[in-house]
Amino acid sequence: MSATGTTRSKSQNLSPTQPVVRLLMVCLGNICRSPTAHGVMEKLITARGLQDLIEVDSAGTGNYHIGESPDSRAAAAAQNRGYDLSSKQARQVTAEDFIAFDHIIAMDNSNLDILRGGCPAEHQHKLKLLLEFSNAGCREVPDPYWSGQDGFELVLNLVEDACGALLDSVAADIRGR
Ligand code: 4NP
Repeated sequence: MSATGTTRSKSQNLSPTQPVVRLLMVCLGNICRSPTAHGVMEKLITARGLQDLIEVDSAGTGNYHIGESPDSRAAAAAQNRGYDLSSKQARQVTAEDFIAFDHIIAMDNSNLDILRGGCPAEHQHKLKLLLEFSNAGCREVPDPYWSGQDGFELVLNLVEDACGALLDSVAADIRGR
């Protein structure tokens, strides 16, 4: 899904009183953590029947892996838990993302700082850490790129926990509007 493509066409099917809420998951490379969060959140949204109201995408602050599929270790770990990352393709955050998305969710403080540096003042309130929505006791989803398989399992544990709470929060906002 692109920030300006599919999201727009879907919103045209909805009542103006029910705008789509758009979530963007962000890490550095967009090949490990954020596509994992993207896949986990996508499955949760569908499981709760919220696919006409909430959309999710992912992107990286870096440009190293643009166009690549998710890291094979991330894809395999996700597949073991029932998440299919095969359709994901890495892209870099764009200036349009700050406008198009309602919640821009960073995996760690370093990426949050980069987002803060590029985000116009009127959209700064959209920037959050994923683990703000978790009681896991840590603030950041650690970069697994240089780790072993256990790093990818930890990413999934943290992401699964926080995505459930993030979706609870977004769904409550929708019910309240
Ligand atoms: P991600 O992981 O930010 O979770 O996608 C990384 C992927 C690639 C690199 C670092 C982190 N890298 O240095 O190429």
